[in-house]
Amino acid sequence: MKLRSVNVLPDNKAVEIVWDNGSRARFHAVWLRDNALDDQTRSPINGQRMITLLDIPQNLTITNASITDEDCMRISIAPENRVLDFPASWLNTYAYDKSGGNRLAGWVNHDVETWDSTLQDRITAGEWQQVSSSREALGHWLAGVRKFGFAVLSGVPTGSGDLCQIADLFGYVRETNYGRWFDVRAEVNPTNLAYTNLGLQAHTDNPYRDPVPTLQILSCLENSVDGGDSIVVDGFRVAERMRAENQKGFDLLSQYRANFEYAGSEGVRLRSRQSVIKLTPDGELGAICFNNRSAAPLTGVPFELMEAYYAASRQFAEIVEDKSMEVTFKLSAGELFIVDNTRILHARKAFSGTGERWLQGCYADKDGLLSTLADIEGKQQGYSA
Ligand code: FE2
Repeated sequence: MKLRSVNVLPDNKAVEIVWDNGSRARFHAVWLRDNALDDQTRSPINGQRMITLLDIPQNLTITNASITDEDCMRISIAPENRVLDFPASWLNTYAYDKSGGNRLAGWVNHDVETWDSTLQDRITAGEWQQVSSSREALGHWLAGVRKFGFAVLSGVPTGSGDLCQIADLFGYVRETNYGRWFDVRAEVNPTNLAYTNLGLQAHTDNPYRDPVPTLQILSCLENSVDGGDSIVVDGFRVAERMRAENQKGFDLLSQYRANFEYAGSEGVRLRSRQSVIKLTPDGELGAICFNNRSAAPLTGVPFELMEAYYAASRQFAEIVEDKSMEVTFKLSAGELFIVDNTRILHARKAFSGTGERWLQGCYADKDGLLSTLADIEGKQQGYSA
């Protein structure tokens, strides 16, 4: 978008720009000064801010505003007597003068698309050779994870520990008490119910950690059993349904925290308190924590609300179990799936004792994935790193 006009507002504390399509956006003087792009404010080497707010005069005013030939807004500010330029494209990217303050609690960011079982036919699927050799293919696959919180990958190496190479594509393995990676197969005297042939209710992993691992990768090395299919459910969609069907129950699950604990291995006693539906202070759906195996006695819910809280938890679980919410698939050797562990619940159907089912899992984090994706997308759009 190009700039049509720019005007200093009457108190000289802000400017208003008009875009060529007639829409408008206001910017405060202090905001513009704080975000100045000149090399005395931002390091030309690494882009980091070199001033603090205390370096900016309190009585800041904009004395003049105009449009340059390069489609920049140019402002003069006092009392510093600085002239600062802001490209139109930059202003468009960072414009904050928008309505939307009345969003319902539980809103999701624009780069997230919640889903139900209809995602089955459009699962983001990648191929190891491609994503490991092409930044474009990797970007496509990672964008699927960002949007849907889930993707599958085929043709992956099946050596023990090879799944860490998938995390290496975009970030770092999060090592835990389970190791850098862990085996998921039926064991005698298992330290975790995951290591049996039992079905597992849909869950997010490790709610007893703080912070929880934000990504999980589960890779199949061998699978010749009957059953053992994988199921994924979008916890954000479950929360949206919960809000639509029972606002009070949604509020209870977001306003109070459940206790989670794991003490199944010698020397380990992990405890955390997390809301089943975690909202950010401005109401964005932040995370889902749902795991029956790791639930500890509830202590943070007031006596008079405990029964209502249990009813809300039951309703949440019923929505999770609703077949219309789930996407299912069966991993074969050389296939894996990745989930955003703050959003997507995963489950496993029971499997028979004949044959072998051997999966390996590892944890990683979303910040690295989103950073790599932003870098790929930035370069595709012609920005420098
Ligand atoms: Fe799990």
